[in-house]
Amino acid sequence: MKQRVQKLIALAGLASRREAEKWIEQGRVTVNGRIVQLGEQADPDRDHVAVDGRPLRLEETPVYVLLNKPAGYVTTLRDPRGRPVVTELLRDVPARLFPVGRLDLTTEGLLLLTNDGKLAWRLTHPRHEVTKTYLVRVRGRLTREAQRTLETGVMLEDGITAPARVAGVRGSDSHTWLELTIHEGRNRQVRRMCEAVGYPVSRLKRIRLAFLELGTLAPGQYRHLTREEVARLKRL
Ligand code: URA
Repeated sequence: MKQRVQKLIALAGLASRREAEKWIEQGRVTVNGRIVQLGEQADPDRDHVAVDGRPLRLEETPVYVLLNKPAGYVTTLRDPRGRPVVTELLRDVPARLFPVGRLDLTTEGLLLLTNDGKLAWRLTHPRHEVTKTYLVRVRGRLTREAQRTLETGVMLEDGITAPARVAGVRGSDSHTWLELTIHEGRNRQVRRMCEAVGYPVSRLKRIRLAFLELGTLAPGQYRHLTREEVARLKRL
């Protein structure tokens, strides 16, 4: 997909967009060997973009994106059943990104995507115990006893869960909202934990991953992580 050349330079981490615009004006940037003018576009998959004769290597540039995944999207790269996949929401990012961990089809919220396999592996490895906080809506009024079981450990078919943190409990007779923080990453873990204590989940949204917050990103929107955030993730 075509992008403005200054954007490609910025995504390759060489300069800010503004700085890249100056380079274009100075005639330092070529696409397929031809000096480009400001406003021209190039396709990172097909065109050869170079600054001062040195090629941009977009594939090698690590990219880190925080997406607010809408419900109804799958977090695999391709879906044999033809359902929408999250990477469709990142069409204007000129890098092949993959999701860090999974969210169920109907789960919303914070999803990190990157082409940095090493960091993705570290963040999803159980040993690293990266915390994940979910805003959960369950049917019915959560009892103290059920809350305590979530907090101490729930027996699931694949073993007892590690203690979870429950906060922000509020609701009515018909439903309860709570914030559940876990650091394991088992399949459908939050849904299975709540169901096991008698509370089927009716809505699930991830709002925090380690120190990263979903914030005010609208569903389907994304932002690039800042350099500081990436550095901090690597230190976890
Ligand atoms: N736990 C779940 O049950 N589903 C998710 O999508 C994420 C965590």
